[in-house]
Amino acid sequence: MTRKNALAVVLIAAAFALLAAHVFAAEGPRARGERIASSVTPACRTCHAANLNPLAGFAERSSREDARLWIRDPEAAAEKAGKRRPKMPAYGPKKLPDDDLEALVEYIFAPTPTK
Ligand code: HEC
Repeated sequence: MTRKNALAVVLIAAAFALLAAHVFAAEGPRARGERIASSVTPACRTCHAANLNPLAGFAERSSREDARLWIRDPEAAAEKAGKRRPKMPAYGPKKLPDDDLEALVEYIFAPTPTK
């Protein structure tokens, strides 16, 4: 192998490594949460708009624990918050497995919306 060819091989390998790292990073918990907000049935986005507004301010005044409660048991969450019964469906573990729930919570608590 010439020196030039060896260099080309190294560069190509580096490019692939970067690409792989990028693909991994793209599907971190926040990105996954964002995807789930659209793909779960019914989609969070049908009621909470593009960046889950008004949930954008939720992170500042609330906790991850409360976010989980809203998603799993909106009635209990509304009662805890002193609100009247919300027209929000409950998402049980069949509809939304625990790791999907956690991805959604990470998305709600992302410092900047990914979009
Ligand atoms: C059918 C409409 C609807 C869907 C679908 C829905 N929500 Fe809600 N959600 C509501 C309503 C209504 C409230 C109550 C808002 C209030 O009283 O301030 C609410 C409240 C919340 C709150 C508390 C907001 C706050 O400001 O205290 C969170 C967190 C939340 N929803 C997350 C979700 C997530 C995550 C999903 C998807 C898994 C989802 N919601 C799907 C209608 C919906």
